[in-house]
Amino acid sequence: LRKPASFARRAAGLPSTFPPAHVPAELRAEIIPFDSGFAFPQLLPDLTCFADDALGAHRAQALQYGIGQGHPELRAWIADYMNRDGCRLSGANILIVNGAKGGLDLICRLLIDEGDAVVVGAPMYFTAIPIFRTFGVEFVTVNQDADGIEVGELRHTLQQRAQQGLPPPKFIYDVVDFHNPSGVTATAQRRSELVDLAREWNIFLIEDNPYRRVRFRGESLPTLKSLDADGDLVFHVGTFSKLIAPGLRLGWIAAHESLIARLIRLKSDGGCSPFMQQVVLGFCQSPHFTTHVRKVQDTYREHRDRMLAAVKRELPGVQVAIPEGGYYLWLTLPANVNSDVLASRAEEVAVHIIPGSRFFPSEDETTLARARRYVRLSYSFATLDQIDEGLKRLGPIYRSLASG
Ligand SMILES: Cc1ncc(COP(=O)(O)O)c(C=O)c1O
Repeated sequence: LRKPASFARRAAGLPSTFPPAHVPAELRAEIIPFDSGFAFPQLLPDLTCFADDALGAHRAQALQYGIGQGHPELRAWIADYMNRDGCRLSGANILIVNGAKGGLDLICRLLIDEGDAVVVGAPMYFTAIPIFRTFGVEFVTVNQDADGIEVGELRHTLQQRAQQGLPPPKFIYDVVDFHNPSGVTATAQRRSELVDLAREWNIFLIEDNPYRRVRFRGESLPTLKSLDADGDLVFHVGTFSKLIAPGLRLGWIAAHESLIARLIRLKSDGGCSPFMQQVVLGFCQSPHFTTHVRKVQDTYREHRDRMLAAVKRELPGVQVAIPEGGYYLWLTLPANVNSDVLASRAEEVAVHIIPGSRFFPSEDETTLARARRYVRLSYSFATLDQIDEGLKRLGPIYRSLASG
């Protein structure tokens, strides 16, 4: 067996065991997965006719190597889709990537050297933690309140770092719509303050925005990208995972042409599947797209409401903010209930939930003590009956911990 010394520094600490079973196909039938952002199976659209068309009329392109930047018509569709949402983009500003995660990885390849600082919210999207960590970043965390990331605190942190002679962070990473895990939607004021601060300090912003159209009520607020007046500050990361299906593994980066040009040269995977891009383009250009998005909104609204009612019924004393969209409820537990314990006891009754500690990159005792007050529950994958059943199983465990 190879000694860890043979590996790159970024791989030296990796476990030699396979990751635990995670996706629905690997799980036992009785398990209720409230843990991850899987799509509701009945919402996965029938793409057969678009696949037929891609393999028939478009076979010569769909089964050939494709343009590294991505299918021109798909890029034009995405630019138009974002322009209807206040942006000023063309297909040249778009790079097709293997899902938002692929986009985040690629942006890190462009911006990060070992030891660079990056700003993230606390809590943050947990899958981004290992992605950023692989590049050897130093995490600079900023708290989030009900209005979004705390820009005043971030300004103070940046000033303090400058006084200590530390270089500015390379980017600020945030999810402004229906934040994962907290469900918070940043206010319009916070968004513009954040963009202003980033511009003033000349720090790139990464806007990871997978849930933008999974909105249950009210009007959308401007994306950070739409507030990027010169167009060279914000990398917007979008994805078809939440709009259509995560198994497509297709997303995009929207950024200034000069940044896209560099990213294309760093993208070493030969481009994303031309076949899959053709299928997605066909679906997006068809009338099915609009009706599908409406169905997504209606279905997840119903799931959210069902889970909110079940949480109120089964978990008395838990605080929960009502998210206006997205896939998640973020619960704050009473001080005497430890979410790590709740999550492991929940596993014994085949309910998978994610304790707060997974969403904070720092592991100091103060952060962990705070993190143990939180739990994230996803309502996207489970059926309405499973939502009721999962919370019925959680209730007695929670109540015994709360009264103990
Ligand atoms: C904030 C955030 N970013 C990115 C992703 C992943 O998107 P993709 O499937 O496109 O990699 C998710 C999915 O859960 C997410 O919640």
